[in-house]
Amino acid sequence: MVAEAKRLILEAVEKYHLEAAGEARFVPGATPILPSGAVLTAEDRVALVEAALDMRIAAGVSSRLFERRFAKALGLRKAHMTNSGSSANLLALSALTSPQLGDHRLRPGDEVITVAAGFPTTVNPIYQNGMTPVFVDVELGTYNATAERVAAAVGPRTKAIMLAHALGNPYEVDEVAKLAEEHGLFLIEDNCDAVGSLHRGKLTGTFGDLATTSFYPAHHITTGEGGCVLTDNLVLARIVESMRDWGRDCWCEPGEDDTCRKRFLYRLGDLPERYDHKYTFSHVGYNLKATDIQAALGLTQLARLPEFGAARRRNWQRLRAGLEGTKGYLLPSATPGSDPSWFGFAITLTEDASFERYELLRFLGDRGIGTRLLFAGNLTRHPGYLDREYRVVGDLANSDIILERTFWVGVYPGLTAEMIDYVAASLREFAATKN
Ligand SMILES: Cc1ncc(COP(=O)(O)O)c(C=O)c1O
Repeated sequence: MVAEAKRLILEAVEKYHLEAAGEARFVPGATPILPSGAVLTAEDRVALVEAALDMRIAAGVSSRLFERRFAKALGLRKAHMTNSGSSANLLALSALTSPQLGDHRLRPGDEVITVAAGFPTTVNPIYQNGMTPVFVDVELGTYNATAERVAAAVGPRTKAIMLAHALGNPYEVDEVAKLAEEHGLFLIEDNCDAVGSLHRGKLTGTFGDLATTSFYPAHHITTGEGGCVLTDNLVLARIVESMRDWGRDCWCEPGEDDTCRKRFLYRLGDLPERYDHKYTFSHVGYNLKATDIQAALGLTQLARLPEFGAARRRNWQRLRAGLEGTKGYLLPSATPGSDPSWFGFAITLTEDASFERYELLRFLGDRGIGTRLLFAGNLTRHPGYLDREYRVVGDLANSDIILERTFWVGVYPGLTAEMIDYVAASLREFAATKN
């Protein structure tokens, strides 16, 4: 009876989806061309409704299954879902402060090498943990720091490197990982914009000690809000889990008890004998968990990751070819040895461009073409960061150029070849009228 009712509801949901989606005919100038967005099918909608029907409103079986499958997809041992990519970054860096890491652990006052030309929540966990960011500049075109710049920034207080693969384009992560190893530094790869990108044939997110992802709708797969921390290191994985789940020492799923059969046999901290392990806290933790409703969507989305990656690559190549040689634009390029699953297509106006960025963004906006800045450009110039302590190695000249002259347009799988051609034609037309 209940099973039949569920079947009928889900059948109706599938029908609803097909009707609600309607026919998507592209009308140049009228149809919005978003910089990013989720690509959702009837299967995704059914998965969401099914999780809701089952009232799987907290983290549970779907979350665990998603974590296992996502870790496997990236070839890593462990994944822990979080409620956002920013939470994943906070959790990853915070995990490295665990006393369980002994002398190797990060402490307030330590320095972490990163970039100012990126998303703020790659940097914020450094401040939130009482540490100091060390900013290095990035290259124009790849929008990544080079391993050489990172190497020049290593100082006596440096303990970690935390860098994002810019707009899906891998940095020289093999060399950065080697550098980290040589200097005994932790490496966190913020892989939020680069799931499925390859560097020297290896997936990004698999080079460092910890990797993070975001599943916000703009990203390679979505769970609505959501993210993940991944690692191959089982010690770090346990710490991540503990810190995500209130700091607890116990690893029983919510609702489970005594899976280790030692619930009352631990003697930890200053606690009395036979104290309940389920309520023993080994870290000053958070609650950053996601829900099964998010995970249910993640599971249907994950199956499409290869297809999404192919579409991102195809769209990027088409746009790149369509803009080749256009005056006034510095076009993006993949880091040598990389095969990026692109997040976006960045353009920097050349120094001699005869127009300003805002004019172009307005022109594109009037044609329904959405644009975004390369996140913070130079984070140190933002109001929230003016009074914060940081160290700069070299200068941030390119970050300043990005702040003033860079933007990006979309390549996400929801965009068709026709749309990409319209974006290229619009960009060419604007440049031609100005030159
Ligand atoms: C590189 C990078 N890191 C972290 C985040 C934060 O992810 P979330 O929006 O899920 O918090 C983003 C967001 O787009 C990002 O681009």
